[in-house]
Amino acid sequence: MSSVLFEPVDIKNIRLKNRFVRSATMEGRATFDGRPTRRLQELYFKLAEGEVGLIVTSAAAVKVYKYPPDIEGLPFGLAIDDDRCIESWKEVIDGVHEQVSKIAMQIVHPGPRGPSHIAPSAVLLKDIGIVPREMTVTEIQELVDRFAQACRRAKEAGFDAVQLHGAHGYLINNFISPHTNVRTDEYGGSTENRARFIVDIVKKARTMVGPGYPLMIKMNCDDFVDGGIDKDEAVRIARIIVKGGIDCIEVSGGGQAGGGSRVSIKGINKEGKEAYFRPYARALKENVSVPVILVGGLRTPRVMITRNL
Ligand SMILES: Cc1cc2nc3c(=O)[nH]c(=O)nc-3n(C[C@H](O)[C@H](O)[C@H](O)COP(=O)(O)O)c2cc1C
Repeated sequence: MSSVLFEPVDIKNIRLKNRFVRSATMEGRATFDGRPTRRLQELYFKLAEGEVGLIVTSAAAVKVYKYPPDIEGLPFGLAIDDDRCIESWKEVIDGVHEQVSKIAMQIVHPGPRGPSHIAPSAVLLKDIGIVPREMTVTEIQELVDRFAQACRRAKEAGFDAVQLHGAHGYLINNFISPHTNVRTDEYGGSTENRARFIVDIVKKARTMVGPGYPLMIKMNCDDFVDGGIDKDEAVRIARIIVKGGIDCIEVSGGGQAGGGSRVSIKGINKEGKEAYFRPYARALKENVSVPVILVGGLRTPRVMITRNL
């Protein structure tokens, strides 16, 4: 089968041997303190042997509030909160590289959905019945630094790229979305202000990882809630964050109160239901110069290779 999917593509200074990406998926295969286990290694080696161009790990927490068992609300999830995490990745990354695959670490702070219950604003999350605590500017700056340090650690560990988790109702998405961010300071209000948290992270991380290192994001292109991000707003956000230094955008959606079932739509049993974020990916691709990754309901090769379905 001949298709662009089998052709190489560059993301900043790395070359993927093809366009197949394993999207970040929580495996629950970390140690109690967020390190990779043999079982996780086996999974990533299998993906690499299957010639996946880019493997994105499940989300690794930039801050851990208590050990064990709660890695920021993600039991047996990964962590990259400390320099001691760095060396635990060597064998995994070397093994993936032997197969000429690339591997990126996804990093996250779950914000209101973790044990700290912090958010840009104290807006009720209807799906979990929690009113989070509004972060101070000092706390915001502390987390900007934590995200940047996590990027540095990922690079030092040997990851080929980092993906910031900017989707699914977690902290970065909470800042970007007008549904959960009603701040009146420089981190809320206009599109530029709501994007400031992520742009600050990218700029600080860039000083630590250097100009060529790929900083990617997975972002909500639709929150599927009233007053949340929609396609037009996602395009505006994308333009701002690419200008701020983002090198690749993965398109996703949902996860905010009421939109949770849209993160991964079930019952994809015919081609017409596949690739459900494609219109968003197309809108972004028309408006930004960086590579765009499509996820969501991709099941059959025919759909994946057909650009206009
Ligand atoms: C069990 C499970 C765990 C997931 N974990 C993550 C994650 O850690 N980070 C992330 O960005 N997305 C995560 N996702 C979302 C997927 O990466 C993907 O965006 C979503 O499932 C849509 O693709 P699909 O329709 O092929 O399932 C997860 C999805 C599932 C079903």
